[in-house]
Amino acid sequence: MITKKLLTVTAMIMLCMLTASGQKRGDVNGDNTVDVADINEVINIMLGKTPDEPGTQGRTLIAYYSYTGNVQAIVNQLSTMVEADVVEVLPAEEGLQYEANNYAIGSALISAIRNAPDDPASYPAIKPTRIDYSQYDNIIIATPLWWSQMAALMQTFLFEHGPQMADKNIAMIVSSASSGINSVVADAKRLIPDGNFVGNALWINDGNRANTTALLTDWIDTLPFITSNEMTTKLYLTIDGGTKLTATVADNVSANALVEALKHAPISYEAHDYGNFEKVGALGRSFTTCDTYITTQPGDIMLYQGNNLVIFYGNNSWEYSPIGKIEGLTIDELKAALKAGQGNINITLSIN
Ligand SMILES: Cc1cc2nc3c(=O)[nH]c(=O)nc-3n(C[C@H](O)[C@H](O)[C@H](O)COP(=O)(O)O)c2cc1C
Repeated sequence: MITKKLLTVTAMIMLCMLTASGQKRGDVNGDNTVDVADINEVINIMLGKTPDEPGTQGRTLIAYYSYTGNVQAIVNQLSTMVEADVVEVLPAEEGLQYEANNYAIGSALISAIRNAPDDPASYPAIKPTRIDYSQYDNIIIATPLWWSQMAALMQTFLFEHGPQMADKNIAMIVSSASSGINSVVADAKRLIPDGNFVGNALWINDGNRANTTALLTDWIDTLPFITSNEMTTKLYLTIDGGTKLTATVADNVSANALVEALKHAPISYEAHDYGNFEKVGALGRSFTTCDTYITTQPGDIMLYQGNNLVIFYGNNSWEYSPIGKIEGLTIDELKAALKAGQGNINITLSIN
């Protein structure tokens, strides 16, 4: 199998040979710079992909539902490996015990959908989410299996949002105790009829759950999504003049605007704890927003209302513009570095 490293080295050699006339030597994509984008372009050519093929670049959304926490744990791990925004599907009615009385509620929900899959009334209500799908090329659906079908709440989400996922690259992760996942994949294809399903769905079950990290690593390698360690621009956060944290930077108008500003000078601001899940503070100036409804993960850096920067050490679902993600820390290390719950800190943002 050709590894990414080998592809990259070969691409760099080919870079000098492929330049069209009138362009800088090595500027394969004609954007007047010779950079990683040109190497990716050459890799695409080597892999026989057209330069504009969706998914080789572009943003990724992870949409998940989790009732007992297994899928939540998978997504926590996945979000440290793939450059992605995350959205959690939540039931409108909280506190239902789907497994009570020999799984009575859970199986009634699945039967209702199975009996009338085209009737909106068959689907249990979920909390509304406003997602700007024009921002995403790739969508990863992570869901539990219920009675061999896709969990009912995730089916509602896809029933409502599936039409907006037309032509997106769709990848799937399914978690079950032991049942096979073919019918869950069939549910997704029914609910996203015009999705471009890529790769094989990843099946995580009670037998292989302990190997989740390795399973995700191998699976991601088969997909055309951008992984965190392929992101080249780094954002640094210096806390109270001491600890310096490193973050990957998202690829969107808000993150680009912040990076542009940081090329001129670092930005320092004071941040305070809020809601037991974040440190937030005003940047003293505004940046372009690209807000989307997101369930934040520990380490996420988000622009809020255009002029506040939020660093998360817990989860919250709201509309933010993603800026980046702090790398390589456990939640406890992150909380210690951010002095979570200990009052105001001074944060200096820089790109070197
Ligand atoms: C209502 C319900 C029905 C389920 N049906 C099955 C099943 O038919 N086969 C199976 O292997 N697991 C079944 N499970 C177990 C889940 O698929 C499994 O525990 C999954 O990892 C749960 O993910 P979560 O913790 O993110 O909710 C069921 C769970 C629930 C709540």
